[in-house]
Amino acid sequence: MLGVDRTAVLAHPEVRIDAGRAAALAAVVDRRVAGEPIAYIRGFKEFRGLRLAVDPRVLIPRPETELLVDVAIDRTVACLGSVAPSPRSRASQPVRVWDVGTGSGAVAVAIADALRRRRAAGVRILATDSSPGALAVATANVVAHRVAHIVQLRLADLADERGGLENEPLVDMVVGNLPYVPTDEVARLAVAASFEPRLALDGGADGLDLVVRLLSLLPSVLATGGTAVLEIGAGQAEAATNAAAALLPGCFATVHPDLAGIPRVLEVRPMARD
Ligand SMILES: C[S@@+](CC[C@H](N)C(=O)[O-])C[C@H]1O[C@@H](n2cnc3c(N)ncnc32)[C@H](O)[C@@H]1O
Repeated sequence: MLGVDRTAVLAHPEVRIDAGRAAALAAVVDRRVAGEPIAYIRGFKEFRGLRLAVDPRVLIPRPETELLVDVAIDRTVACLGSVAPSPRSRASQPVRVWDVGTGSGAVAVAIADALRRRRAAGVRILATDSSPGALAVATANVVAHRVAHIVQLRLADLADERGGLENEPLVDMVVGNLPYVPTDEVARLAVAASFEPRLALDGGADGLDLVVRLLSLLPSVLATGGTAVLEIGAGQAEAATNAAAALLPGCFATVHPDLAGIPRVLEVRPMARD
């Protein structure tokens, strides 16, 4: 906004700014004083080293979601290594990933970017969201990070048939950071969260409505041997694991803790079908 970086501001406190810039700066300070997150004011957020565009149509990507991305990359790379022995069959049978509730596209873009850096070709990511505004932001991020050949975006609701994957082949991995804040707690979140879309936060009475909905869809969307990795909230590990066991009898289910030791990512592998 001032056209100079932080170093210049600190090094030259004597420089005076004109009235126009002073007014613009005051407006920004007012927004911050009102509690608006810095990421919305600046229009971007760093996530896994990537600069992602954000605005109030999307959740601001959280540091804890980097764990979700790490696990997803790990499983995708393992999947790449376990299928398609020849480059020819690899080309005809990509590893398919579904990023559900993509928001800003943070998860899909971060996975695509990491795979590109590893020169791991042969992955296609379908990223869906029920919010047209979120998809507009995600589109900008997919284009800016040059991963449009890997990430396809689609407006789809988890309530749709197969979550919006009606005409899609089975996928090898599902990754999702769906809303998981219990409805009663949404109003008690820090003021910054009141600037974020409620659709991105409210997970229903116990916070797990959409997670459970997604778990129930897994048999119809996941290929045999496929994995789902889902971010969950503090205190939801037991309920989420129980839901997985009830909906997917015999499944493998484990929960990965984040850097703060909070159980954060539910990993589920349904039992192989005959
Ligand atoms: C917690 S945000 C996560 C955004 C992004 N994946 C991230 O990690 O930063 C959840 C996203 O799920 C989307 N969403 C909420 N309900 C949905 C539904 N029924 N079907 C599809 N997407 C939904 C919201 O629009 C929002 O973008």
